[in-house]
Amino acid sequence: MQEYADIFNARGHLYNEASSSCPRARQRERDAVIDRMALRPGQHVLDAPAGGGYLADGIRRRCGGQVDVTCVEPAERFSQAIGTEHIVVVKPLAQTGLPGGSFDAVASLAGLHHIVDRNSVYREWRRLLKPGGRLVVADVQDGTGTGDFLNGFVDQHTPGGHQGVFFTDGELTQRLKECGFGEVTEDLIDVPWHFTSVENMIRFCRQLFAIESAGADETLAALRETVGVDQPEPDCVVLQWQLRVATANLDT
Ligand SMILES: C[S@@+](CC[C@H](N)C(=O)[O-])C[C@H]1O[C@@H](n2cnc3c(N)ncnc32)[C@H](O)[C@@H]1O
Repeated sequence: MQEYADIFNARGHLYNEASSSCPRARQRERDAVIDRMALRPGQHVLDAPAGGGYLADGIRRRCGGQVDVTCVEPAERFSQAIGTEHIVVVKPLAQTGLPGGSFDAVASLAGLHHIVDRNSVYREWRRLLKPGGRLVVADVQDGTGTGDFLNGFVDQHTPGGHQGVFFTDGELTQRLKECGFGEVTEDLIDVPWHFTSVENMIRFCRQLFAIESAGADETLAALRETVGVDQPEPDCVVLQWQLRVATANLDT
């Protein structure tokens, strides 16, 4: 299996290009995380793994620049798209080297499914959070159409494959409590991706996941069969993406 950093350094730029060509596609996914962070002006938050800074940009926009974001991204080349308004740390997620108790909130979007030993990451986030700090994790649930698309069609057609270790119902609650978090709530939620045309949806997904060995028709068929696609209006195409979202607090 090709080293993960090689994979993300190889295709991170495509991921970032897709995100900047269609910044609103994953808006509901990003909002679902930010809504649960209970952000207040003057706070310092961590986005990890940040990729090209998609979530960090949303946090900054939502808070009018009154919240500072530190982005931890292990893949150097992937991190190069992160805006200079954010603090960038290119380190492993479980060994950031950042000072303990320095963050009001930690947010993680669609990155943990590549990591097997997640408890070491949770323990690092616990170390980084202030007492009463908040953690929000959003990632793919096992057995959903979203998961079947990623570990099925994307795995077959992207260089290096895609073998995510997706979350089961209750896993986040159990693991986060094991790692010292207090109250944890979690749900499977709909976070549909929105596009103005079927062509835009196909182009976005092929670029985001670096789909090379399948064409537009095959990609569309796979999206329809696994994730689900609706078109309520001629210029409104909805990809029925779903994520499991957990919110946890550190005791004060
Ligand atoms: C799908 S991207 C998500 C990036 C960003 N949070 C977003 O929502 O756009 C997956 C992220 O997981 C990170 N990642 C993938 N495999 C990893 C691994 N084995 N260890 C640590 N991070 C990994 C990548 O560097 C990347 O930041």
